[in-house]
Amino acid sequence: MIEMLAYLVDISMSVCGLVATFPQGRGASGPSGRARCERRDMLGHLYDRALGGESCWIRHEDGEVRPLPAHRWLGARRSPDGPGESGDAFDEDFDEAVTQLCNGPTIELGCGPGRLVARLIRRGVPALGIDRSATAIRLAGRGGAPALLGDVFEPLPGTGLWQTVLLVDGNVGLGGDPRRILGRAAELLRRGGRCIAEFEAEVIGVRVRWVRLETGRDVGPWFRWASVGVDSAAMLAAQVGLTLTTVRLIGGRVVTSLAAL
Ligand SMILES: C[S@@+](CC[C@H](N)C(=O)[O-])C[C@H]1O[C@@H](n2cnc3c(N)ncnc32)[C@H](O)[C@@H]1O
Repeated sequence: MIEMLAYLVDISMSVCGLVATFPQGRGASGPSGRARCERRDMLGHLYDRALGGESCWIRHEDGEVRPLPAHRWLGARRSPDGPGESGDAFDEDFDEAVTQLCNGPTIELGCGPGRLVARLIRRGVPALGIDRSATAIRLAGRGGAPALLGDVFEPLPGTGLWQTVLLVDGNVGLGGDPRRILGRAAELLRRGGRCIAEFEAEVIGVRVRWVRLETGRDVGPWFRWASVGVDSAAMLAAQVGLTLTTVRLIGGRVVTSLAAL
């Protein structure tokens, strides 16, 4: 099995420079009367520009605004917006601790520019990232992370065979439906595998909101995103056939192990 997944990772390494694509799916609507959000553009070109270094923030429907921590996803040590503005600087200790939890063939859902996948590969762990941003996939390839362009909810290689599924940086809220993304993780795992999932320490329950990206010049389409409190981890895991086995606090962030027993 490990050989087969290593083979899949090899294939993706060879195609990541060319950008392999999975099919895209249906759309979603935004807050009433607002622009429609096509799934393919859920984060859209503003996300790509943020990965290119442009300052970008995320606006929630209730008015909350936060800087998009693209610098952290890029592995940059300092936010271009200056220290203290986002509190989301690249966290070497967190990345190292999280990747140490990944055993065996690992797939990261919503891998962005692939800093965690690249770290796993450097350690000799077969790993593959999936993301639907072509810019992110290009950056991942350049950084040595095998990654495929595609939607995590579409067919993926190695379904039912992965030892670890990684869901961090808020990705448990991806699509605004933690049960759906955790269900996807459960499908991808082999028996005995684990989903390493980050939850939020300061959120109670599941908070689903419409959000959009903005820059000084542009406004992106609305899309759904969920903030998911760690108090919901056991219940959500059980709903998709996983079992919460461990909760770790890593530098103020909460990371759980959800086992496919
Ligand atoms: C919060 S960012 C996480 C960044 C990433 N963990 C990193 O280290 O760079 C969310 C990522 O999920 C991707 N994404 C969102 N919805 C997706 C989907 N349905 N399928 C694949 N990728 C998706 C976005 O393109 C984005 O890169």
